[in-house]
Amino acid sequence: MKVTISIIKADVGGWPGHAWVHPKMLELAAERLKEAQKRGLLIDYFVYNVGDDISLLMTHTKGPDHSDIHGLAWDIFKEVTEKVARKYKLYGAGQDLLKEAFSGNVRGMGPQVAELEIEERPSEPVITFAADKTEPGAFNLPMYKIFADPFNTAGLVIDPAMHEGFLFEVLDVYEHKVYLLKTPEDSYSLLGLIGTTGRYIVRRVYRRADGAPAAAVSVERLNLIAGRYVGKDDPVAIIRAQHGMPAVGEVLEAFAYPHMVHGWMRGSHAGPLMPMRFYQIDAERRIAVGAKMTRFDGPPKVGALGWQLHDGYLEGPVDLFDDPAFDYTRQLAAQITEYIRRMGPFQPHRLPPEEMEYTTLPKILAKVKAYGADDYEKNRERYIKEAIAAAEVAASHD
Ligand code: F6R
Ligand code: MG
Ligand code: MG
Repeated sequence: MKVTISIIKADVGGWPGHAWVHPKMLELAAERLKEAQKRGLLIDYFVYNVGDDISLLMTHTKGPDHSDIHGLAWDIFKEVTEKVARKYKLYGAGQDLLKEAFSGNVRGMGPQVAELEIEERPSEPVITFAADKTEPGAFNLPMYKIFADPFNTAGLVIDPAMHEGFLFEVLDVYEHKVYLLKTPEDSYSLLGLIGTTGRYIVRRVYRRADGAPAAAVSVERLNLIAGRYVGKDDPVAIIRAQHGMPAVGEVLEAFAYPHMVHGWMRGSHAGPLMPMRFYQIDAERRIAVGAKMTRFDGPPKVGALGWQLHDGYLEGPVDLFDDPAFDYTRQLAAQITEYIRRMGPFQPHRLPPEEMEYTTLPKILAKVKAYGADDYEKNRERYIKEAIAAAEVAASHD
């Protein structure tokens, strides 16, 4: 049986600010998914958050990009916006719902989407990830480590099923082009692209031996869709594990080093990606409550839930970063946070202008007068006198 695993994710309001989600949002979403399961549309579902983003995890047999599944998610996000986010005036209610009417597919409408259609193996371990205050390219480095770096994934060397390597599908979000690169032989070209995390994004990975889908990452760039700042595209991902795929521990190992990602405060800062536990898991109600984003709206965080699929049912979740072995990573990420925060508005903590999510800085800077450099050198004394006189006039008005 072919099963599709769909994650559709959106920020439809924060509590407070951009820190977290209101529990009533998760509860309402879970109720609606339960009804869809009863109607037979879904095999199974789960709802969780990391920071201010809600992930709807759904399994079904409709295939990827199906309007019933996407429409369900869209309607749920709309309802959660109206009935919870607007009711309590949560911050940024409906933030990621960029279009008014649903037109068959949520792609390009604001929510993030990751979907994998798979032939369920006799035993099918799957890991779902969600990250907040960062961008889809934040998964580039771990994807490379998981599927192409033998120093991370021992199976690339040891397991004959993985020996032929993996095929990476990389999307250039600016030119809207796709690159298909094979590892190990195209590794250097792959790294040459995906090191530019804001532009080239690992969207899918396949096992070369049989073309089996191995991973999917959400790649919608909200700021490109909207043409203005509407929040970072906090990404989600799905990875299959074991038996000819990287082991669960090989997948997680890639997150043991808190690499630097873009996002954080105002989508305009670099910071470490901290692997986080979930605070609460209610397997009965199908809800998990994940990380808060409080220090400087961050630092960027990622959560990982583990599942065993059985005929499309999701046995789980297991909170995979809930292991003292990741305490050191969290500590290191906290130290890096402390270190890099002291740079304040300076690069490389603050991102270069073309990577900043706010397009408002030029407006602010436009109020500051600029002189032609050659003209200024000729008339420097006069300009300085004028500037001092202007400051004195301003002070006398205070
Ligand atoms: C980053 C993010 C937050 C906000 C920040 C300012 O993705 O969502 O860091 O950018 O809290 O938000 P506004 O401009 O809404 O006050
Ligand atoms: Mg938000
Ligand atoms: Mg978010």
